Amino acid sequence: QSDVVPQAPEDPLFGLMAAFRRDTDPNKVDLGIGAYRDDNAKPWVLPVVKRADETLRKDPNLNHEYLPIAGLAEFTSASQKLVLDADSPALKEKRATSLQTISGTGAVHLGALFLSKFYHPNTQRTVYFSDPTWPNHFQIFSNVGLPYKTYPYFSKKTKGLDFDGMVSSIESAEEGSIIVLHACAHNPTGVDPTQEQWKKIAEVIRAKKHFPFFDTAYQGFASGDLARDAWAIRYFIEEGFELCIAQSYAKNFGLYGERAGCFHFVTSPGSDAESTVSRVASQLAILQRSEISNPPAYGARIASLVLNDKELFAEWEANLKTMSGRIIEMRKALRSKLEELGTPGTWNHITDQIGMFSFTGLSEKQVLKLREDSHVYMTKNGRISMAGLNTHNVEYFAKAVDKAVKA
Ligand code: LMR
Repeated sequence: QSDVVPQAPEDPLFGLMAAFRRDTDPNKVDLGIGAYRDDNAKPWVLPVVKRADETLRKDPNLNHEYLPIAGLAEFTSASQKLVLDADSPALKEKRATSLQTISGTGAVHLGALFLSKFYHPNTQRTVYFSDPTWPNHFQIFSNVGLPYKTYPYFSKKTKGLDFDGMVSSIESAEEGSIIVLHACAHNPTGVDPTQEQWKKIAEVIRAKKHFPFFDTAYQGFASGDLARDAWAIRYFIEEGFELCIAQSYAKNFGLYGERAGCFHFVTSPGSDAESTVSRVASQLAILQRSEISNPPAYGARIASLVLNDKELFAEWEANLKTMSGRIIEMRKALRSKLEELGTPGTWNHITDQIGMFSFTGLSEKQVLKLREDSHVYMTKNGRISMAGLNTHNVEYFAKAVDKAVKA
């Protein structure tokens, strides 16, 4: 029977990580996976996470019991406040329900599974992703049986947002489609709509009765300001949309392997909102129980300690600024080195784009050449994780790009 199982391709991103590890060249540069690195290309444990970790380890009552199905209550409520704002009407009116998940991936999956079962169950709806998007979106939604399409997002010409293409595609999508939106620091392009553009996007989504699904994996990484990075989500909620949010703490807490995340369902205002939320929560609990039973505790405990303590929270904000600040410095350094070298093309997009990534505009051929000649690892679509650059390798990388572009 098992001979009917075809060989699947290796995951491109984790395959790239493995190839980088196998490379023995001393100058190799890892610009693949979106994980923060310090100026010595080493993983950075946030000082605030270290503090919370030490506090946790000293707790004589710490045990390894199961969490509830919906996860650690102090964590999910703090997560709601972080993304929605403590004063959100959705919280005051009890219009939100939240479950702790296996990081952002688990949150996207739980939401996708829920929608596949309960969102117009008799007339299958299409999910729309930005082109390009985080590649995992495609398989997470298709694994639960939802068909997908894409809307234009990135303009190759301007290396910025193709706003008209995006809006007209969402406008012409079948009524009631599910529209996946990156809340901030779009992965892979580093290009976000402006607040005015978000307003127009919301207008079109409302006119077509679409269902917005926000993926927020970079709150604090885009502008360095947590509230500003949640602006789009908060705006949609103010506008009364029913929506889903998948929230990850991998990047902004550096809790990659701890898999701390949260899924939120927010319903529209109205007299039946509390009853809707209660019914939705009951179904989500069954889905969660059958999928993972209950979420892992450790990362959520760390994040919860920080999110619920004023002093630790302020320290976390400072740590976020350290990460986003270093990335901004690297953007400036890379752009100016490429411009100094006279590398053909324009490079202003390197500093215009925000968040963890830059979508360089390099072709697949150039990407492969960079890997072969210079031991630089980046995804084939030309995305680089800015955090992989540092004061020791940015010049080496710029020269390698220059060589590949001029070849
Ligand atoms: C990335 O895009 O590099 C990250 O989100 C890591 C992942 O899980 O794909």
